[in-house]
Amino acid sequence: MDLILGIESSCDESAAAVVADGRRVLSSAVASQIARHAVHGGVVPELAAREHLTALPRVLDEALSGAGVRLNDIAAITVTQGPGLMPALLVGLNFAKGLALASGRPLLGVNHFLAHIYGAFLESGEDLLRRRETYPALALVVSGGHTNLLRIENSGAVSIMGRTLDDAAGEALDKAAKLLGLGYPGGPVIQRTAVGGDPGRFRFPRPLCGAAGKALAPENRFNFSFSGIKTALLYTVRDIGGNPDRETVRDLACGFQDAVVDCLIRKTRDAAREIGAKTVIAAGGVACNALLRERLTAAMDGMGVGTILAPGKFCTDNAAMVAGIGYHHWRLNPRGDGMEIDSFARLPELTTAPFLM
Ligand code: KG4
Ligand code: ZN
Repeated sequence: MDLILGIESSCDESAAAVVADGRRVLSSAVASQIARHAVHGGVVPELAAREHLTALPRVLDEALSGAGVRLNDIAAITVTQGPGLMPALLVGLNFAKGLALASGRPLLGVNHFLAHIYGAFLESGEDLLRRRETYPALALVVSGGHTNLLRIENSGAVSIMGRTLDDAAGEALDKAAKLLGLGYPGGPVIQRTAVGGDPGRFRFPRPLCGAAGKALAPENRFNFSFSGIKTALLYTVRDIGGNPDRETVRDLACGFQDAVVDCLIRKTRDAAREIGAKTVIAAGGVACNALLRERLTAAMDGMGVGTILAPGKFCTDNAAMVAGIGYHHWRLNPRGDGMEIDSFARLPELTTAPFLM
């Protein structure tokens, strides 16, 4: 049994986890900084970095003791290299370098975006991952930083089919919640507020979905755009004179969530059809959303396509997904990436998924 330690610090969660053989999660410790950032209405990068400084040693202890192991039992140290907030990433990477130096174990950098996808396979086991019938697969990665459709072949070849042209879906939900005075993070609070609401009372636009008689440019077939929905919400609130009552806030949240989820489903459905996907994978923080999970499953069932939804605890940022995919990096490169590795802020061009190589 090979034990991999994962360290995650790309945004506002400090996390450490121990995963055996890329599949069995022995521990997954997450310290959320939400309360520290909530007063600012969003994540403040330098504040996040400082919080990681004090939280990472604590979550490491928690992860090791939770798994009942010591640092010496670990085969490799894996860490989120990017994309994410640079000050936050640097703290985690340096922390992991220190651990690698102290333990003499190899250090491997992990792509946070691909790690989110791996999170979908953690509890359903690697079996689905290994099964030929899973491919071609389409992954919808929806978080505070990403809204992407990724095509995945059985060979491990990957390519981005669609991306957001402006806000990420989670970012749009966060901004909408702020506008409605609901607090941060927006996704969970919008979901709670929308319960029992009327999705038809306020009808928000579905940008780039070919609605309103506008022809959709071919290059935007699988791309997303959410800023127009947010602007429509702003104008709607203004038009009703500001200070909406509770019932109106509920219906606004409901209509907004409906529009965001509808865009995600339509594009996923079109992309799945385009590539003849056998499975659709949903991962990232927004994949926690109950409406998205329900509608995606129903839409794919209707097309005879399987769905693999990341378990809730592995949707939002965590280190189990880092250690999980990290195992495959280590398997392919047992000596590790070396002490010279640097963090990166933006999603690089992706060509392969290490977990299928
Ligand atoms: O994956 P994640 O933890 O961090 C990033 O890599 O960005 O995703 C955080 C995002 C936030 O925008 C948050 O509002 C959203 O995920 N989120 C949700 C839900 N839970 C978290 N969005 C919709 N519904 C939820 N239940
Ligand atoms: Zn994330």
